[in-house]
Amino acid sequence: MTEPLIAQRKDDHVRLAVEQQHDHSGRNQFDEVTFVHHALAGIDREDVSLATSFAGISWQVPLYINAMTGGSVNTGVINRNLAIAARETGVPIATGSMSAYFKDPSCSGTYSVLREENPDGFILANVNATASVENAQRAVDLLKADALQIHINTVQETVMPEGDRSFASWVPQIGKIAAAVDVPVIVKEVGFGLSRETLRVVQDLGVRVADVSGRGGTDFARIENGRRRLGDYAYLVGWGQSTAACLLDAQGAGIPVLASGGVRNPLDVVRALALGASGVGASGGFLRTLQDEGVEALVAQLTTWLDQLAAMMTMLGARTPAELTGCDLLISGGLRDFCADRGIE
Ligand code: FNR
Repeated sequence: MTEPLIAQRKDDHVRLAVEQQHDHSGRNQFDEVTFVHHALAGIDREDVSLATSFAGISWQVPLYINAMTGGSVNTGVINRNLAIAARETGVPIATGSMSAYFKDPSCSGTYSVLREENPDGFILANVNATASVENAQRAVDLLKADALQIHINTVQETVMPEGDRSFASWVPQIGKIAAAVDVPVIVKEVGFGLSRETLRVVQDLGVRVADVSGRGGTDFARIENGRRRLGDYAYLVGWGQSTAACLLDAQGAGIPVLASGGVRNPLDVVRALALGASGVGASGGFLRTLQDEGVEALVAQLTTWLDQLAAMMTMLGARTPAELTGCDLLISGGLRDFCADRGIE
């Protein structure tokens, strides 16, 4: 099994992420996005399709379980349950970072369980930006993955006691991986957001899709502070751009974007789609449901979210997720200031 430090880190992340969900204030910048109500905009439920497609990828639903875990016995069990929930609801699912597998292939089962439990589902492998091209392809092969996520997490690494301190190689390495692997590559943040400038960089590297994964939900500065004994970085908690801000910043960027980070309920899914996301993911909230209430509760939650998403699209008059971008939105508070500062109309 994986070296003890990595296995311990994976278990710590799960524990601290769930703790964070328990005392989360509940408010984030999605609250500053509201819809102008048009009382006669509604259409018929049977005319609504949840299917979405972007960069040659087609999903039956615009919702996914985003990257979390694997690498320890405990997280292998979590991955099994997440995979069952994904299979039962038809929701795409990503694994957590597979670097533990590269260091110790004997923990491969904690990741491959995603494919074993969900043979026909859409599965995303996940590596960091220092993975070799060979390892990136091994990650894809182990899961028979349909796409590969490369996570970029400089804030997390900085606060992580044993974290990386060298980031300059990331840009060229992302380009090498994107050019070599045989599935679409998605670059993602881990909860601090991707700016319009970063989107341009990754697009120029041949990356097909970006997951902005912004501020507002799981905060890895806080999680890694919880793992430090001395000298924490409390002042980095709350760093970055919110997911709503990132989606506004991304408009016209020319690369399809996915949204994650602080997605709390089906209304946030609708908001993110209306702001231009092609799909919307969540991690911490789904993990909390699984850990507190079990896999059946997670299946029920995902089913409810999909049902309510379709119901709200019916009410708003959007036949497809993409049609939600035609809704009239009101942007208020700090988000409105962000738009003004960034020259977003
Ligand atoms: C994560 N996240 C993550 N992302 C990634 O690309 N690789 C990883 O290994 C992990 N690990 C991980 C563990 C745990 C326990 C959580 C909760 C999250 C980040 C995740 O994919 C997402 O970007 C952020 O969590 C923001 O979304 P939420 O949690 O606010 O919905």
